[in-house]
Parts: sequence; C-alpha cells; structure tokens
Amino acid sequence: MEIRIEKTTTPKEKPVDESKLGFGHVFTDHMFVMNYDAGQGWHDARIVPYGEISLSPASMCLHYGQEIFEGLKAYRTADGSVQLFRPDENFKRMNVSAERMVIPPIDEEFVLKALKQLVEMEKDWVPHSEGASLYIRPFIFAVDPYVGVKPADHYLFMIILSPSGAYYSTGLNPVKIYVEEKYVRAVRGGTGFAKTAANYAISLKGQDEAHNQDYEQVLWLDGVEQKYIEEVGSMNIFFVIDGEVITPELTGSVLPGITRKSAIEICRKKGFKVTERRITIEEVAKAYDEGKLDEVFGTGTAAVISPVGHLKWGSKIMEINNNQIGKISHMLYETLTGIQWGTLPDEFGWIVKV
Ligand code: COI
Repeated sequence: MEIRIEKTTTPKEKPVDESKLGFGHVFTDHMFVMNYDAGQGWHDARIVPYGEISLSPASMCLHYGQEIFEGLKAYRTADGSVQLFRPDENFKRMNVSAERMVIPPIDEEFVLKALKQLVEMEKDWVPHSEGASLYIRPFIFAVDPYVGVKPADHYLFMIILSPSGAYYSTGLNPVKIYVEEKYVRAVRGGTGFAKTAANYAISLKGQDEAHNQDYEQVLWLDGVEQKYIEEVGSMNIFFVIDGEVITPELTGSVLPGITRKSAIEICRKKGFKVTERRITIEEVAKAYDEGKLDEVFGTGTAAVISPVGHLKWGSKIMEINNNQIGKISHMLYETLTGIQWGTLPDEFGWIVKV
C-alpha cells in the first residue's frame, strides 16, 4: 500500500526547554492515519498534519470502548541518528490485543514501515536531552455510527508522536505504591493481557484514591482472591527476594510488557536467577519482615525502570532498600537505556534504526 503524504503548512514551535516536557502533553506536526472498512480491508494510508478528527457522536468506540493501543519510543543517539526499541514486538502485541477485541489485524511489516516514515519526517522533534525521547502512540478504534453492541465494521488506525520526559514526576527516584484491596483490574477470561482502553479506565478509581493518599500508583492483585500480585497498570512489577528476581507470570490478566520481557532477558544474560511465577502479597510482606526483600521495581515503556521505595499493604508499610534505587534496578536502568540511546552495544539485536 502506498502512503500518501500531506505536509503541514504551519509547523509548530518545538519545545525549547526539554526539561519541562513532562509526559504526553506535546504532539508533533504530523500523524499517520489509515482506514478499515469491512469488505475492503485497511486502506488509504496517509501521513497528514496533526490535528483534530471529526467523528460521529454515535461512533461505536465512544459507547462501547472497542479500542486498542500501543506505546513505544524513538531515541536520539549521540551521533544524532534516531532509533526504535523492539517496535516489531509492539505491532505483534497489537495484533494479539486486536484479536481479543475483535478488531481486524494490521499488517505488522507495513505499519512498521509507516512508523519509520513518520518518525523520519518528524526526526527534529526527537528530544536531544538525556532521559527524554519521542513517545509513540499507535491506536485503533471503532468508528461505525451505530449504538447497537457488536464488533464494528469500520475503524481508524492512527499513530501520534509526543516528545516526552519521565512518566513519573519522581524520575528515577523510588515511587510510592499502594496495594489495592478494594477494586480489581482484570479477571480470568477478561482483557487484562490486551492493551485496550477499558483496562486503564477501570484502574482510574483506584489510582485516584491512591493519589488522594499521596501514592503514585496502585499494585493490582488478582481479581478472584485478591491475593496474587499482578501488575501496576502503567508497568509490570518485579521483586528481588534473597537475590532472586521474581515477577508474576503471564496468566492472561497481566500485560505482557516488552520492557518486562527485556528486563528478564537482561537479568538472565547477566547471570541472575529470574522466576516468572505466581507470588502473593503475603509472601512479599514475609520476605520484607525477614529482611529478604532486596528490591522492588516496575518496568514499562513509559516508566522504563521505576524503583518502588515504599509499598503499603493495608496498615503495613514496607520501606524498600531504604527508599534507594537497588543494584539490580540500577543495572537494568543503565543497560536498557544504554541500548536504547545507543551508548551501549545492542547485543540482543533490539534496535531498529529509522
Ligand atoms: C506505556 O508504557 O507505553 C503505556 O502504554 C503505559 C501508559 C500508562 C502510559
């Protein structure tokens, strides 16, 4: 499929002070758009000026949330070139989410080509400063003007780009997390493994209550017994207990994070024992009491590696590693960001140059 290009005639000012970018507020000059119509498939691929879109108020995505999305980043290296981190994994996962949400699959190779072309056009928007990158948000949503409940026949696929800094305002400083015992994020047979809007909408109430108590995020427990640890919502979670790296296994209600997968691969390559298994919050609390809970950290595209310094479970407060970033979290942050920004060799073959 050809990609039609329409360039903006009114380019925007690029942010001057990259330290003030924050996450996800600023958008570049262009976006990628493609339509799907039943019987015709995906068509009319185009890169057009970034701007508002017009939708019927009856668009199905607005009523029943048939939507999926992805998140990845483009990084500027010291020689000024721009590169992506495992973008093929994002489009592979997008098709897994699509299958769950009855959305037509995308051609993974084609959308990667389109993304590279878009990022190449917008390369001057890729931040220059340490820790900042171009956040990439591909998404698909149902646009049929119909208020009956059924899988749609018409969709839009879009990619928008946002120069961004750290996801958490704390940066690499440890975050405060609260174990959620009232609400649940996902249940067996649900959509927990898919990157779909509903999983995030459902998390807002817990997150809001956590914010009111001065916590950044919540740690979700399983939706049946509220006993087993699942994930944080904006990131997967890891525990280092007595030197062993443990992360909840992918049981269908946890997002299969690409940073999660990369962190596991890096740890194994460096010789650490990594176990993917079910782990209860009780086990974590017990390890803490016995002085064996060495580190807790989250992994995510937006969050990168985010140490957890304070974990609250009911009335129990766990101060982890004296609220300092731990050795494994630090090693992972350095290795991952080194590969992403090109200051370390890409031993795993994860980098795709734009
Ligand atoms: C990402 O890490 O890319 C995500 O999509 C998580 C989102 C909460 C920002």
